[in-house]
Amino acid sequence: MDSSLLAALSSLLLLGLALYLARLALLGKRRRSYPPVAGVMLQQLLNWGRLSEYMTELSRRYGTFRMLTPTCNHVYTVDPANVEYILRTNFANYGKGAMTHDALEDLLGDGIFNVDGAKWRHQRKVASFEFTTRALRDYSSGVFRDMAAELAGIVAAAAAAGERVDMENLFMRSTLDSIFTVGFGVNLGSLSGSNQEGAAFARAFDDASEQSLYRFLDPLWKAKRLLNVSSEAAMRRWVRTIDDFVYAVIDKKIEQMGRDEHEFAKKGDILSRFLVEREKDPGCFDNKYLRDIILNFVIAGRDTTAGTLSWFLYVLCRDQRIQDKIAREVREATTGDHQDAGCVQEFTACLTEDAIGSMHYLHAALTETLRLYPAVPTDVKCCFSDDTLPDGHAVRRGDMVNYQPYAMGRMKFLWGDDAEEFRPERWLDDDGVFVPESPYKFTAFQAGPRICLGKEFAYRQMKIFAAVLVYLFRFETWEHDSRVGHRPMLTLKMDGPLYVRASPRRSTGN
Ligand code: HEM
Repeated sequence: MDSSLLAALSSLLLLGLALYLARLALLGKRRRSYPPVAGVMLQQLLNWGRLSEYMTELSRRYGTFRMLTPTCNHVYTVDPANVEYILRTNFANYGKGAMTHDALEDLLGDGIFNVDGAKWRHQRKVASFEFTTRALRDYSSGVFRDMAAELAGIVAAAAAAGERVDMENLFMRSTLDSIFTVGFGVNLGSLSGSNQEGAAFARAFDDASEQSLYRFLDPLWKAKRLLNVSSEAAMRRWVRTIDDFVYAVIDKKIEQMGRDEHEFAKKGDILSRFLVEREKDPGCFDNKYLRDIILNFVIAGRDTTAGTLSWFLYVLCRDQRIQDKIAREVREATTGDHQDAGCVQEFTACLTEDAIGSMHYLHAALTETLRLYPAVPTDVKCCFSDDTLPDGHAVRRGDMVNYQPYAMGRMKFLWGDDAEEFRPERWLDDDGVFVPESPYKFTAFQAGPRICLGKEFAYRQMKIFAAVLVYLFRFETWEHDSRVGHRPMLTLKMDGPLYVRASPRRSTGN
């Protein structure tokens, strides 16, 4: 071989080697910037009973980190810059993804919670419009006031009999009744137990919600569904019960509308509003669309407010000073300083929008509850293509990226040394006026284009319920200083009942 050929070959070899080393260096660099591995899924399962605390401990140590699972990487972060990036700046790259959609499809269908892209955009637009109408605001406030009065009646009866009352259970039932009435214009009667069909729906709804969650842990769920066996056979029955009930409500409404269109147009529930819209533009959506979108609202608005009210009352039981301060504020905002309302109905009528709006301390106490006990403790997004987060960490296509409201609420670097203390005052300025925080730091309602659509609605409901209960009663846990923990679910649920003793602050005479 002549020397020039040898030189050319050597140069080629050297070039190849250089390119190979450069690629390795690049890959190495990428690998280095991938978030550190804090553990594997097995460790999460071993810490299942205290999962939120476990994830908080890891967040304190690592900030942004990875947990390895058999199917994909889960990236976790508590950095507000990363949160803003995935929820707003690069919104299009992070969504529900196919796995979540499949697991939730039987119950949620193609409702707003369960879709991305054009389907999501359309529903968001329609629903945002409905949620800001005066008609829905007035109607829902009326429903909340009636429901809070019914709840107060049950608590008053228990107080008179000296019996304990499980407030977690009462909140679950009353918020289901409230949101179903607002959504479909029908009272399920689960608080009073008066409606058999409604009770069957409520049971099927609870069971189907739990099974939807279980699917995330059961790799065989699709096979079971195909064979219609075990929990998936039950799931099919529950979904049929739900659908039969909901479609019957829709048919009945359409019939009502046919009878008296003028009268019907005044109805405030979401289903009636949608049916009126459909009359104007026939074919814009079918009954399946109505079923999906309204049922999604029921799911979104039920466990979240019920859970928050339960944690709120639990915290108040442990601090009578805060409880008294709220009772005082409610009294001043409604009946004036020197008089009490004569009966529950008279009092709830005083809970006008202005009165509710002036309760800054109550607003702060509910927000503080959500900071420490966010209804959605961890929220996950599927990464659609390789990306780099603002803190420099790489994420890859198919990774599941989690921001963590529960852990974020406990980070000293975000809230100061007293991060773990319940202190409503942190939300108030010197004049006692509520001052909101960045939604990328206080993430309980998510943020960006998919921020919770029911936030204002939820505060109104929670403030009406809380105002009625704390104005009328003083609450203590049934067993002195008893503590409750939480169950690892999609929402932050208590791990047992919240038994309380209620003593009347004033007469509930009717
Ligand atoms: C304390 C009460 C509540 C909290 C903490 C809360 C929190 C959240 C969170 C974290 C999300 C994002 C879920 C996700 O897509 O991953 C969300 C979405 C949503 N929430 Fe709420 N929520 C509450 C109450 C409500 C209520 C009462 C309603 C309706 C009546 C509601 C309607 C919705 C809807 C429709 C979405 C989906 C928005 C979209 O994807 O564009 N929420 N909420």
